Amino acid sequence: MAIRIIREIGDEILTKKSKEVKEITPRLKELIEDMKETMYDEGGVGIAAPQVGVLKRIVVIDIADEEEEPDLHVFINPVITERSEEEENMKEACLSVPGKCGPVLRPKHVKVEALNEDMEPFEMEADGILARALCHETDHLEGILYTDRLNGPLEDMADEEEEELQRQERQGKKRGKIRKK
Ligand code: NI
Repeated sequence: MAIRIIREIGDEILTKKSKEVKEITPRLKELIEDMKETMYDEGGVGIAAPQVGVLKRIVVIDIADEEEEPDLHVFINPVITERSEEEENMKEACLSVPGKCGPVLRPKHVKVEALNEDMEPFEMEADGILARALCHETDHLEGILYTDRLNGPLEDMADEEEEELQRQERQGKKRGKIRKK
């Protein structure tokens, strides 16, 4: 397994439509494992194959918090077959749009059909954040970013700034220790 480089906004590949997966190959299995690892490493709740530069219809989602048990789902060739009329406007972020967030109107409830890692079909119903993640990630397969669907201003991510400050603080402390030696 390996952590792959995340393609960022401005990269043309993020605007392209991904191709259906016809059969699962060792190479695609490796891709899926790498997508999982990259998503966890980056602290994302989801990742789509084009974000790591591969135009295949594969999505990995885990909306569980770090302190919760993992709730990992792989969706191959996902299709959203139902979207509730009831929608919700909530802030989203994306690993491909670092440091930013902005509100997007999404259905509160969706139904998705997809294949699992063994290419077996399954259906899933999802609410709230999982429904939102499915919409966000399947958009990636169409070459659409959440910034194309903004329903309010794009903002700097406050939490990320905070994390960055904490990280710098920790590094500062470490450097302090080294200096003492
Ligand atoms: Ni994204």
